[in-house]
Amino acid sequence: MNDVMREYQARNQQVLSSALSKAQIPERLSEAMRYSTLAAGKRFRALLVYGAGLALDAPLARLDAVAAALECLHAYSLIHDDLPAMDDDDLRRGQPTNHIKFDEATAILAGDALQTLAFELIADQTSDLNDAQARKICLKLAQSSGATGMVGGQILDILATDKALARTALEEVHRRKTGALINAAVICGALCSDYATQEQLDALGDYADKLGLAFQVMDDVLDIESTTEELGKPTGSDQALGKSTYPALLGLAQSKELATNLYQESIVSIASISDNTSLLEDLAELTIKRRS
Ligand code: IPE
Ligand code: IPE
Ligand code: MG
Ligand code: MG
Ligand code: MG
Repeated sequence: MNDVMREYQARNQQVLSSALSKAQIPERLSEAMRYSTLAAGKRFRALLVYGAGLALDAPLARLDAVAAALECLHAYSLIHDDLPAMDDDDLRRGQPTNHIKFDEATAILAGDALQTLAFELIADQTSDLNDAQARKICLKLAQSSGATGMVGGQILDILATDKALARTALEEVHRRKTGALINAAVICGALCSDYATQEQLDALGDYADKLGLAFQVMDDVLDIESTTEELGKPTGSDQALGKSTYPALLGLAQSKELATNLYQESIVSIASISDNTSLLEDLAELTIKRRS
């Protein structure tokens, strides 16, 4: 993480904290939503929103709302992913998972509420988005997080348990469960700009798709190579659960090589979209260099 990343992380943290401090939310639900969302995540998707927005000169107030929405959707996906019915993990972001700290019903409801909060943040007037932008962003977020995106990927992931998937099928799981939301972060950041051209959106989509796959390949690698302390979540979880992963299919060395190639291709994709792509480039590098 460099200084620019830390600056936008802190900005996102503030927006999230204020979005989650509404007095009308029942206290236990509010506590559970804040517990997971404000915990020490990398805020990678929020940073992608800012990165794409900065590349296309989008106003910060809009990016704030969109970045917070992405992190709400992501936090919801993590809370549900950790549930006993899914990956049954007990550690996340260095602290007990939501259902361990609270209980399963509260964790399910906290996830549900974070999901709808994401759409509220976009539709709310204070997002400073015009109606056409808000509609496009809501549509993109729904398609990327729902049945055709992340949720669709999660069921494919579950169906693939204890199976040896072909490489194309595994790529499909990864693209949906993780890639879709990463693509949404980049595209929605770009949609905050009043000047995004179709050519720029296509280039950014290409960048995001490469990065999204690399990100989950590295997540699979880190599940084997990192430590629980660094990762803030249990290592060895994939193997214990019989998950279909890239290291299981290709081995560690080839998986890392694939991620590195995808990283390099992602940088090439955005080479000519603007002269302010440094945050996007640094985030691409972080994807393969990260230890957590
Ligand atoms: C973990 O995402 C889940 C995946 C989709 C791979 P992150 O690695 O971005 O987790 P946080 O947000 O930093 O906790
Ligand atoms: C996560 O995949 C995909 C999500 C939609 C959350 P994993 O199950 O590998 O994520 P971690 O390793 O638990 O963070
Ligand atoms: Mg999972
Ligand atoms: Mg998991
Ligand atoms: Mg994982």
